Amino acid sequence: VDVDQPLRDLAGRQLLVGTAVDHAAYTADAEYRERVHTEFSSITAENVMKWEVVEPVRGERDYAAADELVAAAKRNGQRVRGHTLVWHNQVPAWLTEGVESGEIDRHELRGILRRHIVDEVSHFRGRIYEWDVVNEAIDDEGNLRDTLWLRELGPGYIADAFRWAHRADPKAKLFLNDYNVEGLSAKSDAYYRLARELLADRVPVHGFGAQGHYGVQYGFHSAAEIAKNFGRFEALGLRTAVTEADVRMVMPTDNVKLQAQAQGFSALLQGCLLSRRCESFTFWGFTDRYSWVPGWFEGEGAATLLDESFQPKPAYREMQAVL
Ligand code: XIL
Repeated sequence: VDVDQPLRDLAGRQLLVGTAVDHAAYTADAEYRERVHTEFSSITAENVMKWEVVEPVRGERDYAAADELVAAAKRNGQRVRGHTLVWHNQVPAWLTEGVESGEIDRHELRGILRRHIVDEVSHFRGRIYEWDVVNEAIDDEGNLRDTLWLRELGPGYIADAFRWAHRADPKAKLFLNDYNVEGLSAKSDAYYRLARELLADRVPVHGFGAQGHYGVQYGFHSAAEIAKNFGRFEALGLRTAVTEADVRMVMPTDNVKLQAQAQGFSALLQGCLLSRRCESFTFWGFTDRYSWVPGWFEGEGAATLLDESFQPKPAYREMQAVL
């Protein structure tokens, strides 16, 4: 392996290698920006395409931050994954409060969701190759997750979302996306049944994304199991993807944990590479200088490929070796 070769070059044409981009870091940190450009062939907006960011005030849409990332990606020969249209988190306060107070009823809510999807997907039409249309719709037991969307609109909100998105950008590939679905489990079984039902109803769903949020203390699915799981979705005619890979650890780091982390990333990447239609692999950030993990998982961190000074960790070398 040429140790100086960026991941995007090592992957070649058969796989897009992506990263989530933190818009604030991208704006403020030139070293970060440079690395985004050189290392990856795909980007995902970590937050700035989410509903609370694009419509903070009802009826006032603001795609400025997302537009900056999309324009930069184009300049740098990168593709863009869209993330995410329907989710229970990072929904604007005016919406959740409106529903809770009874000011927004179901009928109106359905119209609000339709307008959100149509407006955002149309705004980026032709510039997004894969959209995470519905994010985290199933819980760990394998039931439809109890969210505002399910409670107010019923299970049909999922098919509706895909149909609206497809009409707004017929060429974008539309994904279901969730965590804890890399391997074979009650949760991934439930997704398999959901995908099969949606396809039987001629709903335009094109892909299944496994987020890939791992922790060294929990262990990992083998590459073979991931490929077996992805394979059953691919047999339905879907593409697959790893959409948010990171491998966190209880701090402080040590060599054992860093080696285990490399093995976790390795299994995810090999699982994707062993799959026939796993066409994009996205890391949820690439440097410990900027990562959501310390803010979300108490006492945990160091979940990415490069340390806070952008120095490669064993996981980065492992990615180069596998690619
Ligand atoms: C996270 C971002 O990384 C954080 O910056 C934000 O505060 C919360 O959301 N699953 C997803 C992502 O689908 O959108 C989440 O991103 C991480 C979990």
